[in-house]
Amino acid sequence: MCGIVGYIGPRETAKVLIEGLKRLEYRGYDSAGIAIFNQGKVEIRRKEGKLIKLEELIGEETFDGKVGIGHTRWATHGRPSDENAHPHKAGRVAVVHNGIIENYLSLKEILKSKGHIFTSETDTEIISHLIDEFIQEGNSSLDAVRIALDKIKGSYALGILIEGDERSLLAAKKESPLVVGIGEGEYFIASDVPAVLPYTKNFIFMEDGEIALLSAEGVKVFNVKGEEVSKEPKRVNWNSLMAEKGGYKHFMLKEIFEQPRAVIDTIRGRLSEEKGDAVLENVHFAPTFLKKMKRVSLIACGTSYHAALIGKFLIEEFCRIPVEPDIGSEFRYRNPIVGESNLLIAISQSGETADTLAALREAKRKGTTTLAICNVVESSLAREADQVIYTHAGPEIGVASTKTFVTQLVILFLLALHMGRELGILSKEEGKALIEELVRVPHLMEEMLKASNQVSKIARKYLHARDFLYLGRGINYPIALEGALKLKEISYVHAEGYPAGEMKHGPIALIDREMPVVVLATKNEVYEKVISNIEEVKAREGMVIALASPSDREIVHKVDDVIFIPETIPSLTPILLTIPLQLLAYYMADFKGTDVDQPRNLAKSVTVE
Ligand code: M6R
Repeated sequence: MCGIVGYIGPRETAKVLIEGLKRLEYRGYDSAGIAIFNQGKVEIRRKEGKLIKLEELIGEETFDGKVGIGHTRWATHGRPSDENAHPHKAGRVAVVHNGIIENYLSLKEILKSKGHIFTSETDTEIISHLIDEFIQEGNSSLDAVRIALDKIKGSYALGILIEGDERSLLAAKKESPLVVGIGEGEYFIASDVPAVLPYTKNFIFMEDGEIALLSAEGVKVFNVKGEEVSKEPKRVNWNSLMAEKGGYKHFMLKEIFEQPRAVIDTIRGRLSEEKGDAVLENVHFAPTFLKKMKRVSLIACGTSYHAALIGKFLIEEFCRIPVEPDIGSEFRYRNPIVGESNLLIAISQSGETADTLAALREAKRKGTTTLAICNVVESSLAREADQVIYTHAGPEIGVASTKTFVTQLVILFLLALHMGRELGILSKEEGKALIEELVRVPHLMEEMLKASNQVSKIARKYLHARDFLYLGRGINYPIALEGALKLKEISYVHAEGYPAGEMKHGPIALIDREMPVVVLATKNEVYEKVISNIEEVKAREGMVIALASPSDREIVHKVDDVIFIPETIPSLTPILLTIPLQLLAYYMADFKGTDVDQPRNLAKSVTVE
């Protein structure tokens, strides 16, 4: 949660900071603020509410300083308010922070007894006081930061300005993401790469315990002992247009329409049609590991967890190995049974989700081989897992996951195919047939997107419904969960996803003529069963929106609305079913006038428990 940015260089600092914060606003939008050196003093402007409020506050004001830091907040300690907005300043030290300081209350008491006066309810404020305390004792800026951080327990990505040292910007990282952008005579810090992509593609990815010292002359990185460490910048291949709306009304809509491209990029270079296998560049299992493997655990949160549920079907079908999907926050506290004969796959768009990361660490501690599926390059999860496969979805700005979800499904399909081939469960011919079908998917997705007008009309028709039920069976059931989650999070309409066969055990009591039921009814081995569930809903006067196969002309007479899903094999159908459900949620939200890209109370990357 929260986004931080910092700049040192010749450009107009406030502008660079505000532009960076616009790209980070998806991480939190309870308040925003900047701090800039102005004639040796740190000037702070901060405001509760979205970034636009801060822009209004700054208005035409200009700052001549060439060094600054900025913050966009997702509140944890202290309600959203001007006082709790970052940057926080104490004495000569101004700080922006993403993370949580666990021992802030005890530190606060110690600092208060030394005469420090606090003006906010945040945990962050103690950091500025603590560093100021060590500055006052005569330490250099770097040493003051180092000594202060040694006293702190918790997670942080920090940007720090110290009056008296106005030619420097300091940054530090522990368990919260932080990158340093390297430009031509200008340098940046940010919570993620897209924030400063318009200015540079070269980045240093900070490690836990490192402190960066940025000056007009360059960047130096130090370890906790204050020794300089050598860091090679890496070049990223994202471009800044990927983080623009490109004419769409919302990022979410753009990202839905980008999905065929995202899938092509994710597949590119990863198929060997000749061998009937997937080529996963970073995946290398020890020769007997897969044969001896007893179980696969799939760990994730939110939408990524729905991908994990689909992964169970794919891996069990292609590899005949038992798979246990788990929610990160449940797995980590359960004393999970994992170890050397297990593979744990952690799935996360951001690679920074606290619960997923903690689950991975717990599994590693127990000797489990781990693999991460991430979208954000060099994220914590990507670095901590034994192996990583990246989804090449590009930056996702809308808080609702869309293109990153479908690309996770593609990676799980490729991984299951590869493991199935390695294990000898899938023959070369079967592998080739699966690949043949997979390469058709981007084209089928384009076809699916053509239904957007129809979906928008359906959204208008059911706009006043207060509750929705989503039903699916087998591999389509997780898509029912995903459809319901999308609707809830962006349109604030209550929705439940259910396995269709479970309806009669409870949810059927909810059905009446006010209740739209979205049924995933594509042709597969459980199709007849799903049709029976539709009959049960209609018998109770429920309204049914069916997602069906184009060959199914009968269904038109049974339901209120039908969206046809292009035909493919059942293991790839979830990718196509996802699109109309994303669009349904999107149009419902847009018609209701909610904040589609930044829904209330949410943040893109949940780096707190
Ligand atoms: O970055 P991650 O994939 O680990 O994020 C997990 C969830 O927080 C995320 O999928 C969340 O549920 C989305 N808002 C769903 O659209």
